[in-house]
Amino acid sequence: MKVIQSAALLRESLQKERQYNRQIGFVPTMGALHDGHINLADRCVSENDISVVSIFVNPTQFNDKRDLDTYPRTLDTDCALLERAGCDYVFAPSVEEMYPVPDTRVFDFGRVSQVMEGAARPGHFNGVAQIVSKLFAAVEPINAYFGEKDFQQIAVVRELVKQLKLPVVIRSCPTLREADGLAMSSRNTRLNVEQRRKAPLIARTLKESTGLTAAKSVQEVINYVVDTVNSDPVMRVEYYEIVDEATLKPVHRWSDSDHIVGCITVFCGEVRLIDNIRYDNKTYANRNT
Ligand code: PAF
Repeated sequence: MKVIQSAALLRESLQKERQYNRQIGFVPTMGALHDGHINLADRCVSENDISVVSIFVNPTQFNDKRDLDTYPRTLDTDCALLERAGCDYVFAPSVEEMYPVPDTRVFDFGRVSQVMEGAARPGHFNGVAQIVSKLFAAVEPINAYFGEKDFQQIAVVRELVKQLKLPVVIRSCPTLREADGLAMSSRNTRLNVEQRRKAPLIARTLKESTGLTAAKSVQEVINYVVDTVNSDPVMRVEYYEIVDEATLKPVHRWSDSDHIVGCITVFCGEVRLIDNIRYDNKTYANRNT
């Protein structure tokens, strides 16, 4: 496995791989890898000839400087894990390498980047689009792998690929969970013992809420999730929205869409956790509420 810091060198190496008709798959990450990332890497390795993983904590997608400063950085451990997973290249550039001059591009993805995470973290998805477009330009992958925990990010990246007409297929992969249901996240390492014990309440409540759709309206289910999670003093729900999976428009009645997903953000102490759940429309297919 080669660890490369320079985009020019990466492009040159991958160009050679392409000359042998090797198909390149790509997993963009910010490092601090957990099993969820390794699952993406495993899939990339199994579906492509050459697998590239990037590790770069992208400053332009953080609207909170403290969050950026405290984001865990564990490059050596990450590389050991990726080598074991069978990756071929790790791209670990510096900030200067990715942003030799400030990136002033402003993307317009409409609703998908404005609601939920877009509203709570102004500029976040613009920063994601800036770095993902630069990484795609350096790697030119055939397939790129993203985890569904960042459900809205996948919608934004799909829109980016559409707008820039990039020849890459976005592969979304199910969220990996700890044994107690907590969605795997690099941020989980920042939870203290008490917060870590309590954090599974988020996934447990979302799961429970899927059993309520036959008896409760969309708004009642939203209230149930928010009230249940907020009932623990360590937790503070920032938002819980139930939306159509493709458009991210709010769903008001269960019959409004065949593909409904609930997206939540919760502060567990100071640590911001996100998760989501699908509502199976068979449960409420005949309901009008
Ligand atoms: O999901 C992430 O880790 C980041 O948003 C990404 C896609 C690597 C861009 O920095």
